[in-house]
Amino acid sequence: PQDLYGKERKNSPGIDLVNPREIENLLEEIRSFTFWAAHPVIGGKRQEGPRYQIHNPARREETIGEVQEASPALAQEALVCATQAFESWNFTSAQHRAQCLRKTADLMIDHYHELIALCIREGGKTLTDAISEVREAIDFCRYYAERGEIDFGTPLSLLGATGETNEFLLQGRGVFICISPWNFPLAIFVGQIAAALMAGNCVIAKPARQTPLIAFRACQLFYEAGIPQTALQYLPGSGSQLSAALLKDERVAGVAFTGSIETAHIINRMLASRDGAIGSFIAETGGQNAMIVDSSALPEQVVTDVLSSAFQSAGQRCSALRLLLVQEEIASRVIDLLKGAMAELKIGDPFFLSTDVGPVIDEAAQKSLDTYRETMKSEGQLIYECPLDVNTQKGTFVPPSVFEISSFKSLTHEVFGPVLHVMRFKSSELEQVINQINHLKFGLTFGLHTRLDGRMEDIARHIGAGNVYINRNIIGAVVGTQPFGGQGLSGTGPKAGGPYYLHRFATEKTISINT
Ligand code: NAD
Ligand code: ALA
Repeated sequence: PQDLYGKERKNSPGIDLVNPREIENLLEEIRSFTFWAAHPVIGGKRQEGPRYQIHNPARREETIGEVQEASPALAQEALVCATQAFESWNFTSAQHRAQCLRKTADLMIDHYHELIALCIREGGKTLTDAISEVREAIDFCRYYAERGEIDFGTPLSLLGATGETNEFLLQGRGVFICISPWNFPLAIFVGQIAAALMAGNCVIAKPARQTPLIAFRACQLFYEAGIPQTALQYLPGSGSQLSAALLKDERVAGVAFTGSIETAHIINRMLASRDGAIGSFIAETGGQNAMIVDSSALPEQVVTDVLSSAFQSAGQRCSALRLLLVQEEIASRVIDLLKGAMAELKIGDPFFLSTDVGPVIDEAAQKSLDTYRETMKSEGQLIYECPLDVNTQKGTFVPPSVFEISSFKSLTHEVFGPVLHVMRFKSSELEQVINQINHLKFGLTFGLHTRLDGRMEDIARHIGAGNVYINRNIIGAVVGTQPFGGQGLSGTGPKAGGPYYLHRFATEKTISINT
C-alpha cells in the first residue's frame, strides 16, 4: 500500500507459526537465552551502580538477569555528555541518521529470537505478543527513517518577495529524556529514541524499572548500527530520582514520556517549575477505553473482538478495552457468548503458542488488581472469572474477569489488567452514553460495533478518542497505518507511527536571505 506521500511502504513480516517444526526451532532457540546483565552507559562507557535482579513474571523464582542502576550524579554526567554531542549529531545529514535507524532495524531482525526471548522472560509477553512487539520496534525505526529523510532532508523553499529566498527547515531541539513504560519494553523504548534521534536530538533513555534488560540490548543495537555513543545515554533507575536530577535543568530541551497520567502530571509540574528555557513535553498516557455495541451488531464477532481487546496481553495495553456498552436487546446474548468464550481461554506459560493470557508484570500489579477485583465483587456484579490452574501459582497471574456495572461512577481510574466492565444501555440512551464516555476525559481508543452506516460516521466524529475502531478489535495499531495516540487525559496528542510524530521532537526554522 501507499502512504500519505504516495510512497510504497511495507511493514516488517512476522514469523510463520503454522509449521510445527519452525515453531519448535523457534522455541528451542528462545529457551537457549537464559541470563542478561545491564548497566548504565554514558558516552559509551560502562557505569556501575546498585544492583537488583529481574525475575520472570510467569515463574518468579527464575532470575533472568541483573541490572545496575544509575545514580542522580550519573544522570548529571549523562546530561553533560548528551549536551556536548548535540552540536555534532544535530548537523549530521538526515540521510545518515536514517541510515543508522535502518541498520538498527536490520540488527533487530538479526537478533529477533533473543528479543522475543526477552519480551517473554522479562515482560511476561505471550509468544505472539512478543513477535508483534519486535515487529513494531523494527517498523518504528524504518518508518521514522523514511519520514525523517523527507521532512529533515531538504529544506522547503517558500514563495516570497522578488530578491529574497525563504527557507523553512526542521532541526533537533537538544537533549531529550525518553521515559518509557514496561508494557511495551522494546517497541515504545525504541520508538521514542528513534524519533528523537532522527529529528537530530541527543537522548537520555530511561527504561521502566521492571524491564531494563531488553532496553539495554536495544541500546547496544543502536550503537552497533552507528548511533554515536555520546548521542544516546542509557540510564536505568528510579524515575523520580532521575527526573529530580534532570528535569529542572534547562539543558533538557524536552521529555518524551509514555506511562500513566499520574506520572505525566508529576513530570509536567517539574518542567513547568523551572526557570530559563521552556521544556517541550510529549506525553502518551493511559486510557479508559470503551466499546459501544448496538443491536445491529453481530454478537459472535463482538465477542471475538472483545476477548482480544480486553484480555490480550493480560489487559496490559493502554489501548485495551475497559468498558463494554451493549444495547439491551442483545446484551444477554453477548454476555452469554462472552462467558462461554472466556471459559476457553488458556491462562499460563507465555512460551506456549496455545497460551492466550500470560502473567501481569509483577507482584505490585497483581496485588492491586486482586484488590480491585475484590472491591468490584461487592460494588458490581461478577459475571465471569476465568479459573486459574495450579501452574499459575508460580507467577503473577490474574484471572480475566468481567463485572456488570450500572453506572459510570465505578470508572474512576484506569485499571491496568484483565478486568472488563460491562454495562447495558437502551436505544434512547445512545447519545447520553457517548457524552458519558467523553466525560471520562480520557481519549485513547474507542470501539463501535454496528451495521448502520450513518451511525459509524456520526459516532466516529463525536467521540473524543485518538483511535476509533469500527467492527473490529481496538488494539494493535500498526505503524504507518494506524498512527497511535490519544487526547485529554490520554496524552498531549502526538501520534506514534504517524507522519507528524517527528515534528514534535523538532524546532522549526525560517531563513530569509535578501539576495
Ligand atoms: P508509570 O507512569 O508508572 O511509569 C512510566 C515510566 O515513568 C517508567 O519508566 C517509570 O520508571 C517512570 N517514572 C515513574 N515515576 C516517575 C517520575 N516521578 N518521574 C519520571 N519518571 C517516572 O507507567 P507504567 O506502569 O510503566 O506503564 C503503564 C502505563 O502506561 C499505563 O497507564 C498505560 O496506559 C500507559 N501507556 C500508554 C501508552 C500510550 O501510547 N498512550 C502506551 C503504553 C502504556
Ligand atoms: N499501540 C498499542 C496498541 O495499539 C498500544 O495496542
